[in-house]
Amino acid sequence: MSSRTLPAPSAPVSPDGRERPLVALDDVSVAFQTRTGLFRMGEVRAVNGVSLAIARAETLGLVGESGSGKTTVGRVSLRLIEPASGRVFFDGIDITKTPEHDLGWLRKRAQIVFQDPFSSLNPYMRVIDLVEEPLVIDGVHGKAERWDRARRALEDVDLVPAGRWATRYPTAMSGGQRQRVGIARALVRDPDYIVADEPVSMIDASSRIEILQLLRGLQTGRGVAFLYITHDIASARHFADRIAVMYQGSLVEVGASGQVIDQPLHPYTRSLIAAVPEPDPANRFRRRAVGGVAQAAGEIVHPDCPHGPDRANEPALLLPFTSDPAHLVACHVEAPHGR
Ligand SMILES: Nc1ncnc2c1ncn2[C@@H]1O[C@H](COP(=O)(O)OP(=O)(O)O)[C@@H](O)[C@H]1O
Ligand SMILES: [Mg+2]
Repeated sequence: MSSRTLPAPSAPVSPDGRERPLVALDDVSVAFQTRTGLFRMGEVRAVNGVSLAIARAETLGLVGESGSGKTTVGRVSLRLIEPASGRVFFDGIDITKTPEHDLGWLRKRAQIVFQDPFSSLNPYMRVIDLVEEPLVIDGVHGKAERWDRARRALEDVDLVPAGRWATRYPTAMSGGQRQRVGIARALVRDPDYIVADEPVSMIDASSRIEILQLLRGLQTGRGVAFLYITHDIASARHFADRIAVMYQGSLVEVGASGQVIDQPLHPYTRSLIAAVPEPDPANRFRRRAVGGVAQAAGEIVHPDCPHGPDRANEPALLLPFTSDPAHLVACHVEAPHGR
């Protein structure tokens, strides 16, 4: 039997523990070789021992500062890069070491929406050709079927009537409209999972909420699971079911979006929230301004971890720190307090 049809028995379970997750990373680390001098090579550890699971039709927000490793986590979850260690699962199938030529099925089921809708779309291609291109690559030969699926994708991103948008060029469109085309390109393959990497950060503020609402609609309407990557923790609150906070290549806190934003436990999460000018108008007056992200101590583990924040050579684990078993914080050993 091929490994493709065999669910991996050790795949981590989904947050609710009932169903196996659609996407799971198990203790994944990623290192990049970099040139540090003319003849010298160094290694950047972009991701360090990250474990996470995303259920079907769930959105996990992955937040953190630039350089914290978010994009690398997204790419490794799509197996666009291979981890140095740890394992990657899609729908229970271990894809950690699967060669690219055996990943055709994953390339249909999992998609990415890029940050920059200006550079990610060929300006010389019409919208219809851009949206149909993935189907051409997949060998969908019937013109009628291609148009049918492209039309549905364009309608799902509110580029209606689809026939009118089909013949336009990206150069004649706004950033928000271009990003809708980028999303339609991802949707046309009917994926189960989309990595949306800072999908609204290069779009004018007025279109951002619209695009996030559109993605939210796809989550419920089409049952798509998302990894929503953002440096803007406030936007994750509106779009993500759960939030995972990333700091220097490690996850420091994971929990339901409301919990993480209203009752952040890790100092780094607190500083991310404090750096947001106005995370949520309803909470404007409850929030204490405690300074910028730079104030966060350079520690991965929570300062209340009884074995101290100084065991940098030991991997941090995500452990429950309160009575909520789904609200996890980086620590070396079992949580000390039943706070
Ligand atoms: N292809 C690469 N080669 C070398 N270093 C890289 C590469 N991609 C990312 N990095 C490094 O890995 C770290 C994490 O990067 P990234 O995942 O892009 O972070 P984020 O998306 O949170 O900004 C950074 O230090 C970055 O410079
Ligand atoms: Mg990035």
